[in-house]
Amino acid sequence: MRVSIIGTGYVGLPAGAGLASKGHDVTCVDIDEDKVNAINQGDCPIFEDGLPELLEQVVSQGTLTATTDTTNAVKNTDITFLAVGTPMRDDGSINLDIIKQATRDAAEGLKEKDDYHVFVVKSTVVPTTTETEILPILEQESGKTAGADFGVCMNPEFLREGTALHDFLEPDRIVIGELDDRSGDTLEQVYNGFDAPDELHDSDGHRSSAFGDAPILRTSLRAAELIKYASNALLATKISFINEIGNICKELDIDVYEVADGVGLDHRIDRSFLDSGAGFGGSCFPKDVRALIHFAEEQGVEPALLRQTIDVNVKQKTKLVDQLTDRMDVQGKKIAVLGLAFKPGTDDIRKSPAINIIDALKTKGADVHAYDPAAEDNMRELHPDITYHDGFEDTLSDADAALLVTDWDEFNDITLEHIRTMNQPLLLEGRRMDHDLPDENTDGITWP
Ligand code: UGA
Repeated sequence: MRVSIIGTGYVGLPAGAGLASKGHDVTCVDIDEDKVNAINQGDCPIFEDGLPELLEQVVSQGTLTATTDTTNAVKNTDITFLAVGTPMRDDGSINLDIIKQATRDAAEGLKEKDDYHVFVVKSTVVPTTTETEILPILEQESGKTAGADFGVCMNPEFLREGTALHDFLEPDRIVIGELDDRSGDTLEQVYNGFDAPDELHDSDGHRSSAFGDAPILRTSLRAAELIKYASNALLATKISFINEIGNICKELDIDVYEVADGVGLDHRIDRSFLDSGAGFGGSCFPKDVRALIHFAEEQGVEPALLRQTIDVNVKQKTKLVDQLTDRMDVQGKKIAVLGLAFKPGTDDIRKSPAINIIDALKTKGADVHAYDPAAEDNMRELHPDITYHDGFEDTLSDADAALLVTDWDEFNDITLEHIRTMNQPLLLEGRRMDHDLPDENTDGITWP
C-alpha cells in the first residue's frame, strides 16, 4: 500500500522504515528540511537500535522517501499516519497545536484527491480528540465527509525509545480504533503479517497457535485513545508501586529484587516493570500520566491513584541524594554522577532522574562530575556548569562519592580498582547492576 507518515520522530521514522521493510511504499513527511535531506540520503537522524541499517536499506531500495510537502504526500498515498508530537502544557494538559496544523496540511491533500483515503492518528491524544478535534478539521478543510469520502482510525503506538523498531516490527498487540468497518479494514491490511514477539513463543521455541500474527484489537476511536494512556499509566504505577515497596524493604534490609521476583512469578501480576530504582523518566510516562490526571479532572473524576503514581516518582528521583546527604555534607565535595539518559540505549534526558539529582547536588554546593556514553551533549544544554568526563574511570577518580543513575551495561565493568581511585570508596546505586563490587563499597537505593 502507499503510505504517508507525518512526523519523523521516535514514532514516525521507525514506523516508516518498518512499513517499508514489509513491502509498503512509504513517504515520510517532516517540516524540518535538514531531517528530510538526511533521510533521503539514508542517514538516520535519531538514536534507535537497528534503524540506521534498515533506513539505509529501504532508502536505497526506493521504498522510503522523505519530503516537506504534506499535501502532495497525502495526495499520492492511500493512507496517512499522523505521528507528530503532542507536548504538555504547564498545567499538564496536552498541546494539540502541532497535530492540528499537520491535520490542516493533510486535509489540503485530501481536498485534491478523488480516491478514498484513511487518516490514522498515531500520536498520543486524550480520549475523544480524534472525533472532536481532528475529524472536524479534516472535514472542514477538505470539504469531504468522514465515513463516505475518507476513513479515520486511531492506532496508538506502544514503542519504547531505543527499541522502537523492534517493538514496531514485533508488537504484543495492534489496537485499531475505527470510525467504521471500512476504515479499520483498510488499516488492518497495512499490518498484514506482523508477528508477536519471541516471548510469546512456547517453551520449545514454537509459536503457539494462540499467537500467530500479533493480535489485532478493533475498538472505538475513543477506546483506542484511552488504551494508550491506560497502558502507560499502569506501567508507571507498577514502577511507583515497587518503589514504595522498595522504600519499605530498605528500612528492613530486604532486597526488593527478591520481593519483585517472588511477586512477579504470579502470572496475574507478571515480573515486568517491577525493577525498583530512581524512578521513571522519559518523554512518555510523566507526560501521559499528567495528561490523564488533567483529563480525568475535566471529566469530574478524582484521579487519586494517578496522582500518587506521580508523587511517589517525584520523591524517588532525588532519594539517592537524600541517602548521600544522610552520610555526608556534600558542600565542596566531588560527587560523580554516572548516567544521564533517562534509561540506557538512548541519548534522551527528558525527565531523567539525573536532572533532578544534579539540581539537588548543585543546590547543596557539591562539585558535580558527570559521565554518560550518549547523553552528555543533551545534558550540557541544561547543566553547562558541571564537569563532564569521557569515561567512568575519570569521573570516579578522586570523587568523594558516586551516584549511579542510569543502568548502562558498561557500568557493570566498574571494579574495585576503579572504586579505590576515589577519595571515599562509595557507590550509591539508583539502578540495579550486575557487578562484583564488595557490599561495603556499594549501597542500593531500595536494596541493601
Ligand atoms: C514507554 C512505554 O514503555 C512504551 O510502551 C510507550 O510506547 C512509550 O512510553 C510511549 O508512550 O511512547 P519509554 O518512555 O521509551 O516507553 O521507556 P520505558 O522503557 O518504558 O522506561 C520508562 C522509564 O521507566 C525509564 O526511566 C526506566 O528506567 C523506568 N523503569 C522501567 C523503571 O524504573 N523500572 C522498570 O521496571 C521499568
